[in-house]
Amino acid sequence: MTSAIILGTGSYTPKKVVTNDDLSKIVDTSDEWIQTRTGIRERRFAEEDEATSDMALQAAERAINHARIAKESIDLIIVATMTPDMPFPSTACLLQTKLGLPCIPAFDVQAACSGFIYTLNIANNMIRSGQYKTVLVVGAEKTSSILDFEDRTTCVLFGDGASAVILSSSEESSVGLLHTDSGADGEHPEILCQPAGGSAMPATTDSVSNRQHFLKMNGKEIFKKAVRVMGQSCINSLEACHLTSDDITLVIPHQANMRIIESLAKRLEISLDKFHNNLDLYGNTSAASIGIALDEAVQAGRIKKGDLILLVAFGAGLTWGSQILRW
Ligand code: ACO
Repeated sequence: MTSAIILGTGSYTPKKVVTNDDLSKIVDTSDEWIQTRTGIRERRFAEEDEATSDMALQAAERAINHARIAKESIDLIIVATMTPDMPFPSTACLLQTKLGLPCIPAFDVQAACSGFIYTLNIANNMIRSGQYKTVLVVGAEKTSSILDFEDRTTCVLFGDGASAVILSSSEESSVGLLHTDSGADGEHPEILCQPAGGSAMPATTDSVSNRQHFLKMNGKEIFKKAVRVMGQSCINSLEACHLTSDDITLVIPHQANMRIIESLAKRLEISLDKFHNNLDLYGNTSAASIGIALDEAVQAGRIKKGDLILLVAFGAGLTWGSQILRW
């Protein structure tokens, strides 16, 4: 049976570092509040003329180099993003042209912060079905483009960046993506959304002046749900693979809040040392976050052949998912 393995990883974060102190000059906040409540110290913001597809290109090129493949062997591009360059065409199509890969199919997936896991799952199944052999999977976000810098409850939490992996077919059936557990609950979209700019509330002068094009979030509700669904999803994935927490070498959680990650560690009874975290440096980069952390862990030599890696995320939708990979 064909499996899908990660041949290479890559990531990119913009040069501009924005510290908590920098934000405290714009909104009524403090380094102390942000660090204590979230664990974030700083984040990166893209330049005005740097779009999501530009960051995606950097991450993709790094993943291609790391995988040591000719880019022409890529036969499908999927980009996870909630901050596309524009509503259409997809960021994946724009990336395809920037990479110089005409004609191969390309599309976006919108699952907010769970986008990386959703997309990896789609790519895995497309490879296992035999239709594609080498898929470029990207998570990329310019969250700064939808942040309200008059809203201290949200603008301190997010950052920009991109990540990519090359997922490729392999005849080694015991390696690669072993299982995905994912879910969604669309009953309360208002707890995390960007209200305007779609067909329900097209752009008008009112929608702009009422700040409806910015991200809105009920942080407390998200927090409670995140802790519950992430834990349960990981347990589902472990059970499906007949594994226990002890078998996991490394956990790469979506980087939203250190307190959420600590609760998850407790629920799974996995030591925090086994988690790869970097939200102190990048904040929540949404669909890019798991891929950035994965790339960092790979580059740091934290992942060896045969290791069992647990990925887990939640995001707007609500959406959530977990995945187990054997490296
Ligand atoms: N600086 C200073 N004070 C602040 C700030 C800030 N940046 N933000 C809020 N406060 C104040 C509030 O106004 C409140 O003041 P009050 O008590 O006088 O009313 C107080 O701090 C406490 O606010 P809470 O909302 O209760 O703070 P909480 O401990 O819940 O932390 C946080 C807020 C960090 C947002 C937390 O709820 C959280 O992380 N939630 C999850 C969010 C998340 O992960 N979202 C990403 C989802 S992924 C995706 O798809 C995009």
